[in-house]
Amino acid sequence: MPSMAPGGRINSQTNNKKRKAYSDGDNRSELLARKHKFEQQRKSLPIASVEKKLVDEIRSNSTLIIVGETGSGKTTQLPQFLLSAGFCNAGKVIGITQPRRVAAVTVAKRVAEECGVELGSTVGYSIRFDDMTSNSTSLKYMTDGLLLREALLDPYLSRYSVIIVDEAHERTVHTDVLLGLLKRIQKERGKLINEHNNGMRTMTNETSVGTLKKYQRLSPLKLIIMSASLDARVFSDYFGGARALYVQGRQFPVDIFYTLHPETDYVDAALITIFQIHLEEESGDILVFLTGQEEIESVERLVKERLQQLAEDKRKLKVLPIYSSLPSEKQMQVFMPALDGYRKVVLATNIAETSVTIPGIKYVIDPGVVKQRQYTASTGIESLVVVPISKAQALQRSGRAGREGPGKCFRLYPEREFQKLDDSTKPEIKRSNLSNVILQLKALGVDDILGFDFIEKPKSEAVSKSLALLSLLGALTDENKLSDPIGHQMARLPLEPIYSKALILASQFNCLEEMLIAVAMLSVESIFYTPREKKEEARAAAKCFSSPEGDHLALLNVFRAAVEVLQKNFGNNREKAEKNLRKWCKDNFINNRSLKHALDVHRQIVGHVEQMGLSITSCGEDMIQFRRCLAAAFFLQAALKQPDGTYRSLSSGLVVQIHPSSGLFKGKPECLIYNELLKTNNNYIRNVTRIDYLWLPELAPQYYALK
Ligand code: CDP
Ligand code: MG
Repeated sequence: MPSMAPGGRINSQTNNKKRKAYSDGDNRSELLARKHKFEQQRKSLPIASVEKKLVDEIRSNSTLIIVGETGSGKTTQLPQFLLSAGFCNAGKVIGITQPRRVAAVTVAKRVAEECGVELGSTVGYSIRFDDMTSNSTSLKYMTDGLLLREALLDPYLSRYSVIIVDEAHERTVHTDVLLGLLKRIQKERGKLINEHNNGMRTMTNETSVGTLKKYQRLSPLKLIIMSASLDARVFSDYFGGARALYVQGRQFPVDIFYTLHPETDYVDAALITIFQIHLEEESGDILVFLTGQEEIESVERLVKERLQQLAEDKRKLKVLPIYSSLPSEKQMQVFMPALDGYRKVVLATNIAETSVTIPGIKYVIDPGVVKQRQYTASTGIESLVVVPISKAQALQRSGRAGREGPGKCFRLYPEREFQKLDDSTKPEIKRSNLSNVILQLKALGVDDILGFDFIEKPKSEAVSKSLALLSLLGALTDENKLSDPIGHQMARLPLEPIYSKALILASQFNCLEEMLIAVAMLSVESIFYTPREKKEEARAAAKCFSSPEGDHLALLNVFRAAVEVLQKNFGNNREKAEKNLRKWCKDNFINNRSLKHALDVHRQIVGHVEQMGLSITSCGEDMIQFRRCLAAAFFLQAALKQPDGTYRSLSSGLVVQIHPSSGLFKGKPECLIYNELLKTNNNYIRNVTRIDYLWLPELAPQYYALK
């Protein structure tokens, strides 16, 4: 059991009225009551008292940095202030970008409710694979990556009067690139408007009339950069000394507890702490930070299991997960209050750090870790690794406990470990594979990547490695320009370059139908699940789908079986079909949420490839054809068996092992390709398929013929 020692305290400030959460009524008086409640809640947010000042500042500055504590109302309120102030007149749109899908969706829903409009009308959101906007949308919440894609179609982002880059402190690759792009667009728009104004006076020839007409409706672009980190200087400097405003937050004291010794199993420690709080502490909801969907789902199951062992009156604990690929109808549940007498325990990834604020939280459990992308330029290996958080993150996490009253934060590590943490997190651009971003920048006409005005330049080694990868995939010409048609096609698909290429190749290998399924299934986390108490049954179920040839084929089998189940009952009764699918998933130990997500992704990428004019044909029973295509697409992730049964990656030389969850764990083929590298104590590979070694020089001569 983790023994807790009290530690520091974070500062306190003034009082706060207890926020009331909303309920789900639909009759008229309830609607009115709800509207009234929203109005009161809005008024009580710290940002409400500075509305006029903020709007004035935005009117008089073309770029503004706004720093404010999490939960002060930046994301939900500021866009509404601007809407009322007329920034959306003449059909203009205010775009608000978020690094995370969940934030874009849940915030848009909340704001639509506050405005009393239907989602997708005045207020909407747009994220990859899910667009909830219409012609009448004025406030558009979206992911930063999506706005980058929009720039491909509309280089001046001309529909937007204001773009708010939210959560800029997260410094995702997309945010960083977007900042550079927006800075450029703002300048260019200014230039065009000047030319237009001058031209109106001195208009001479026909062509200028055309150009002028085109940009007649262009207005200056207002940029607002919002951040939860107090350090606004980097952003201010980057935008030529732009003005920074600070919005005062509200924070109650939070008692911080540390463990006396490091925990060997933080998941177990988190579980124990959840029940300690539940059984011993006064009422108030719990927020637990975990590293990903899989971990969250396993903790969810374990909490439910252990609850059953408690006396009936002690079981009033409601477990609610939130992570990025959770179906959106489930995401909103964490914001609702638990039933009377119940305590909520929210299991979240680091999206709950600053992106979304969950009402009711009084206790935070912080294991001190986060799953992060890491990239080693020298080997070209990108992997997801669980690493210690930074001090800034630890502070944000504990702060979540003191939003509505005094709270407690349980750090599942000793205080001396906290002292060793880095002050802040390294920007993602410094630690990820850049091929996707480079592809997009090239498609936007930025050919000199290192010459691009980044807020922080990526390492030149990482840039050249990513350029080399794109060349190997055939996306670039010898002059490092986008190749036609492959490079352009790849840039159009909203996927990692290697997956885009796989789809393009598959249309040549006559197995696009199969590859679309594989890519959709590979883009979600863990299709299978193995509960601890039913290991044998789960394994037996997985066997029904598995194939000695590889996991990609097993994924095909699962997907096709699921589609059959859905279609069987479909008729007009969608609800019944979904219920049926849920049951089928449960019986077969398939993760229903992941599967639904995959079905969704599949539908969308099918749309994309159809638009591109690729023909969707199937290789039928000829799985060799499909495996050859996998080899041609993922040739950089091929590995060869070594005498001791481990594998050596052919491109990086890294020694890896097949993950026990793979269907090939026992079969151990001579040569394989894999899609996922998991770095724990061992380097595990997952989603593995057997290939013939000789296919590599044949299908990827650009790489293997030389070796
Ligand atoms: O962006 P910032 O962190 O400054 O705050 P916000 O996201 O605008 O949140 C303002 C308030 O709205 C918080 O008290 C949230 O708890 C609440 N909120 C909510 O209850 N439900 C949502 N779906 C989103 C926000
Ligand atoms: Mg926010």
